[in-house]
Amino acid sequence: MKGNIVVGQSGGPTAVINSSVAGVYAAAKKLGVKKVYGMVHGIQGFLADNLCDLDEYLSDETGIEMLKRTPSAFLGSCRFKMPKIEGHEDVYEKVFEIMEKHDIECLFYAGGNDSMDTVKMLSDYAAAHGKPQRFMGVPKTIDNDLPITDHCPGYGSAAKYIATSLKEIIRDNASFGVEKPTVCIVEIMGRNAGWLTAAAALSRGADCEGPDAIYLPERVFDMDKFMEKVKHLAATKHSVVIAVSEGVKIADGRYVCELANENVAVDAFGHKQMSGTAAYLAQAVAAETGLKTRAVEFSTLQRAATHLASLTDINEAFQVGFDAVKAAEEGKTGMMITLDRNGDDPYQCGTSAYDIHAIANVERPVPDEWITEDGCDLNEGYEKYARPLIMGELQPLYVNGLPRHLVRK
Ligand code: F6P
Repeated sequence: MKGNIVVGQSGGPTAVINSSVAGVYAAAKKLGVKKVYGMVHGIQGFLADNLCDLDEYLSDETGIEMLKRTPSAFLGSCRFKMPKIEGHEDVYEKVFEIMEKHDIECLFYAGGNDSMDTVKMLSDYAAAHGKPQRFMGVPKTIDNDLPITDHCPGYGSAAKYIATSLKEIIRDNASFGVEKPTVCIVEIMGRNAGWLTAAAALSRGADCEGPDAIYLPERVFDMDKFMEKVKHLAATKHSVVIAVSEGVKIADGRYVCELANENVAVDAFGHKQMSGTAAYLAQAVAAETGLKTRAVEFSTLQRAATHLASLTDINEAFQVGFDAVKAAEEGKTGMMITLDRNGDDPYQCGTSAYDIHAIANVERPVPDEWITEDGCDLNEGYEKYARPLIMGELQPLYVNGLPRHLVRK
């Protein structure tokens, strides 16, 4: 590659999105790319010419190792929707003007469905206007809902955190009282896809019974049936733990969290901000049954827990960044790197590049065949799929008793 490159991060952060930046940087250096720029706060920052030089942070081996152990988006993220091209050519021209100014030949964007839309729009504009610059998507999302790819970097680590924390919550919840059970409701992110909530099932094992029910957004949430189930569980057990997706909806299409708060905030992509599902359900159970309840919302903890990241996930996040640069070097553009599973025993996964048009803005749900008939649990098909993704650990670098992170100046 003769010119420079730029890498950006977009959308909700993950525990391993920085490993993808490390992968992009490592590949670029291997290929002799002169400068690797980072977009500060994604495409929104890029449009304001807000760039940093990654050599400042990563030119020695410690930098890359520190970055792999740093949660969230080291470069800063954004939720910025590229406008439709017609009538907004100035926005697109600005991107190319900044690329030319810094001699940037290729742009790499790490993100989920919405961020892949940015890659699509920019590569389409380049194709339509005879621009030579290239655009590559690097997959990332704890929601695990990108199509085509077997799974998404960020998912395995969030799943590992969720399963681990559920084991701990289940132990805690089981420690009190034998007469009246405590009902603990745990809310898990993932928006309209239940992949992350499904990870609650991974807590099950020789030392843990797992949650008593798992509610995914792939199934309509029925308040009466839920209440019936809780009452039945409470009558037969001294501890009840239920995992629920933030994205569960009742039959009329409203999110459960909207029942508590009608005026939920909406982002640039029209996504409603979800929060408060567990609190709403816990209150409803307490009011109906008089039982002690607790609501736990993992919120940002589940996507920032690099101290508990999956090594498989870290390595794959690095690999997709690395391979995106290799693909761009081969002249590819308007594509996203996918993770392609080649085997489960032992687990093996390769990568390839796939047309961004089949990926941008598409949400992939949990397959029906992995959800149990009552809609409240996952079967062994899911376990077989997900277990390899949470394997392995990377020890944080501890300083003064706490993990040390790499922070942009
Ligand atoms: O898309 C990733 C994600 O973490 C979703 O699971 C969640 O609904 C959303 O982002 C939250 O976004 P924000 O942090 O912007 O509220």
